[in-house]
Amino acid sequence: MLKKAMSLTVVFVLIFSLYGPFADNYANASTDNKVNYSNDVIYQIMTDRFSDGNANNNPTGSLFSADCSNLRKYCGGDWQGIINKLNDGYFTDMGITALWISQPVENVYSVLNDTAGTTSYHGYWARDFKKTNPFFGTMQEFQTLINTAHQKGIKVIIDFAPNHTSPASEDTPSYMENGRLYDNGSLVGGYSNDTKDLFHHNGGTDFSSIEDGIYRNLYDLADFNHQNPTVDKYLKDSVKLWLDMGIDGIRVDAVKHMPFGWQKTFMETIYSYKPVFTFGEWFLGENEVDQNYYNFANTAGMSLLDFRFGQKLRQVLRNGSDNWNGFNSMITESEAKYEQAADQVTFLDNHDMDRFHFDGADVKNTDLALAVMLTSRGVPNVYYGTEQYMTGNGDPNNRKKQTSFNKTTKAYQIISKLAALRKSNQALGYGKTKERWINNDVYIYERTFGKDVVLVAVNKSKTASYNITNLTTALSAGSYSDQLTSLLNGNSLSVGSGGAVSAFDLSPGEAGVYSSNGTAAAPAIGQIGPVMAVPGSTITISGESFGTSVGSVKVGTGNAAVLSWSNTEIRAQVPVLAGGNYQVSVTSSGGTVSNTYGPVEVLSGKQSSVRFIVNNATTSPGQSVYIVGNVSELGNWDAAKAIGPMYNQVITKYPGWYYDVSVPAGRNVEFKFIKKDASGNVVWESGANHFYTTPSSGPGTSISNFQN
Ligand code: NOJ
Ligand code: NOJ
Ligand code: CA
Ligand code: CA
Repeated sequence: MLKKAMSLTVVFVLIFSLYGPFADNYANASTDNKVNYSNDVIYQIMTDRFSDGNANNNPTGSLFSADCSNLRKYCGGDWQGIINKLNDGYFTDMGITALWISQPVENVYSVLNDTAGTTSYHGYWARDFKKTNPFFGTMQEFQTLINTAHQKGIKVIIDFAPNHTSPASEDTPSYMENGRLYDNGSLVGGYSNDTKDLFHHNGGTDFSSIEDGIYRNLYDLADFNHQNPTVDKYLKDSVKLWLDMGIDGIRVDAVKHMPFGWQKTFMETIYSYKPVFTFGEWFLGENEVDQNYYNFANTAGMSLLDFRFGQKLRQVLRNGSDNWNGFNSMITESEAKYEQAADQVTFLDNHDMDRFHFDGADVKNTDLALAVMLTSRGVPNVYYGTEQYMTGNGDPNNRKKQTSFNKTTKAYQIISKLAALRKSNQALGYGKTKERWINNDVYIYERTFGKDVVLVAVNKSKTASYNITNLTTALSAGSYSDQLTSLLNGNSLSVGSGGAVSAFDLSPGEAGVYSSNGTAAAPAIGQIGPVMAVPGSTITISGESFGTSVGSVKVGTGNAAVLSWSNTEIRAQVPVLAGGNYQVSVTSSGGTVSNTYGPVEVLSGKQSSVRFIVNNATTSPGQSVYIVGNVSELGNWDAAKAIGPMYNQVITKYPGWYYDVSVPAGRNVEFKFIKKDASGNVVWESGANHFYTTPSSGPGTSISNFQN
């Protein structure tokens, strides 16, 4: 009887999802797809500062500020508060489909001996990654949060900070909690007298180089030694525990400060276990362009918070130090440099920078910035309270407690309208950006994917109106109303034949968004997640016009077994291929081939972080040492793909070099060291190849002498 009822439900769900009214537009946005956020809008919550749903779990004494007047204390916000807001429709009505919450793990209870008596309210001072922060809630409440969110079609992303535990001092073990780490309640070790070698003891970083930032402490935070097998296993087991709770995404703290090799093994662990969308924090300042940042976004297997985008938009609409021409250059540069621009997470502000809106500023700037972010490439992330025009410069003033939850603010409505458009028009999630009309004040750009088109027109001037002539669009002939329903004074747009737009005026502060939907004739891939995978694991391909009958999927020239197929989403199994980068394509049952999408990095297998050390490698000025070897993770003997430059300042000193590399586990790898200069001139090491058998699990170390 029960069995019958269940199968009827299954049939109904199948029919509904294939033929239901939402089948087309909503398939990509479902909480079932944890590796695609292109149709989502993320809302970033500092858990302690959002809503206090349970006064019983609030800390007492020096940890707590009941009225939140001391912004360095706990203020009582918790998961029950978020659950309440989920239930009253605050997120749903705003169009929010993902919540990023503070690191949920147990933090230190100690209070800093500074004037404010600073606490761990922000969640970045972990002590036990396998327990909850009791001031946020219990494991059961966390589960209720996930379940409630999922019932509303909302994903939950956790912040995760595997770079460090908490503030510690080598010489003063009584300082704070000495960075002590616990494993579900039992002590693993602390920072002083660290006989197990759990932490780095190289002093604090001066941020002078990537190496310095990785292997020395970030401020005074006890810095993990990820090459330690206990630490490696502990952190990977911990993230699995949260994945088992059903989280849908991870924001990784301080990715610039952890060995890139270890992080790749961490991503492989996640993707081989329960793949979820993961994005890292690599802070960039205003006008900072860093090739290392793009390299990370393209090779780490995770996306990045798009600091390039956020900082530039702040320059244009917050401090006025740049204009739309500069913004458009950033869009062009970043679309060329990110391999998957659509997967980077865009934002206007966060807990580490001044809030976008500030006292005395025109809220219009926030409105326009939201309109631009929500219609641009990337996954938009709204910092809590932006929709209420909260202000606050610097930490902790940018982390005030949210007191207003008004659904009628203009910002709230703009987010709501454009979040809906991100679901119904795939050009916003997947499309490329084309500038159509520009000056310092006006930016008119178009996003297109298949036959879906969105045209956006913005005038940021406070005084000047512009008559827009000679504008061309990919929108077909017709009249278009503003998708923002004139919230920012947008008018309707008239498009003639050949995409000629009738001249119109763009008044000061006006923004309009114009949309048309069409069905692509051929299968069109918009996004694939994850883009790093071992053979046999699953990738999810999103897009449109795949057709309703099963076709085929190719990863390079290999055929990927199809696990599920719908018109907008395919799940396929990565075939057995040699490690390397591959392009993916879809062929419909009728034989029409899609665009190619990639690269997807197929790994040579389960990964292990190995520290390769080479001694006595003397170099001439301008030369650095790299490692190259016989697996794709070591560049397949291609000097241009060698891993490095290796480091020589902290763990070993010149002429000793080291680098932590993610390589296949349990494999005999062959390699050599090369000397390379900035122009790419290569000097190969002489003699026989080096050999090393990588551990079948956990990290390893390989030490060689350079062969002159
Ligand atoms: C970056 C976080 O966003 C910041 O708030 C934190 O203090 C540091 N990483 C250290 O975890
Ligand atoms: C050149 C290296 O010198 C050698 O040791 C290595 O075996 C080959 N590349 C592999 O092609
Ligand atoms: Ca509370
Ligand atoms: Ca570190």
